[in-house]
Amino acid sequence: MAVIPVALAGRAYDVVIEEGLLARLAVAAAPFLKGYAGGRRVPFVADTNTHRLYADRLNADLAAAGLTAEWFVVEPGEEAKSWRVLEQLCDWLLALGVTRKDHVFALGGGVVGDLVGFACAIAKRGCGFVQLPTTLLAQVDSSVGGKTAINTRAGKNLIGAFHQPAQVLIDPLVLGTLPDREMRAGYAEVLKYGLLGDAAFFAWLEANGNKVLAREPAALEHAIATSIAMKAQIVAADERETEDLRALLNLGHTFGHALEAETGFSDRLLHGEAVALGMVLAAKYSARRGEISAADATRAEAAIAAAGLPARLAALGLTCDGAALVDHMRHDKKAEGTTLPFLLLRALGEAYVARDVDLTDIAAFLDAELTA
Ligand code: GLY
Repeated sequence: MAVIPVALAGRAYDVVIEEGLLARLAVAAAPFLKGYAGGRRVPFVADTNTHRLYADRLNADLAAAGLTAEWFVVEPGEEAKSWRVLEQLCDWLLALGVTRKDHVFALGGGVVGDLVGFACAIAKRGCGFVQLPTTLLAQVDSSVGGKTAINTRAGKNLIGAFHQPAQVLIDPLVLGTLPDREMRAGYAEVLKYGLLGDAAFFAWLEANGNKVLAREPAALEHAIATSIAMKAQIVAADERETEDLRALLNLGHTFGHALEAETGFSDRLLHGEAVALGMVLAAKYSARRGEISAADATRAEAAIAAAGLPARLAALGLTCDGAALVDHMRHDKKAEGTTLPFLLLRALGEAYVARDVDLTDIAAFLDAELTA
């Protein structure tokens, strides 16, 4: 078991990692269920998959504690992060009579967590929520740190709020039913922590990544806990990404976002896969600038390829050129006027924000990578 505090003044909370947490939620989340004494109904939001897998057990566990779980179930996929579903969810919460003292439970991956977090940021001007992340990606990244959002016609995650959960409960056992492809996509974010800030963790992942992907309990818990400890530290120091610190968590994301946009944000390239390839490109571009050695860039690429993640841009079979990918980057929400900060590497385990990157040079670099 690991308990990792996210030390935000006035909004501090714990991330708890322990096998079997979900099966004893009434005890694990007891402080956030107190308000529901007297038979009040506890709101749970899930997608059809997590509802099918866990609702019966949670209903029984809560019933034994004298509580009734009420469910709002969305279809799996990004479509749930929409104005339409947000409106339905807010109406449902208001009809349930949710108050600012109450907590809504988000059971699912990043989509459910982002949707619930944003609904809870605005319902009654802010009520509480507890994250119960069920994908590796949500466990090591999106459930921690308070970024919440929906997608709109203008792009992904452009409407949202910083709204911190009251608690994050991570049960690694739930990853047993996660498809391997999604497990690998989440693992890309684990590798990200090693590459951006912890060379020893990166080396540990090079040696033990196969155990993490095979869900070996000790390796998995170590990987999740180390990732979250770094994220908690960064979020506590730069909650709203106003310094360059939280931005480090975007390593691989600028290249990755362009690849997701070019592939239509579809199953062709999952977010974590795009981040993986984005990190290879960030490492290779850092080598092109002479900031890391070619051997280090190759090491980063090898760790990503060894996890079965996409590591070669040419292998994606895109028909666009580098300029088209750069054009997608210009619409990235991290764009600052006409410039775009890039997350690059000074070493394996040391990322930094570069603001002097010439987008014409990025396009030329990508042209070469598209055919390499
Ligand atoms: N996923 C990046 C962040 O939470 O800042």
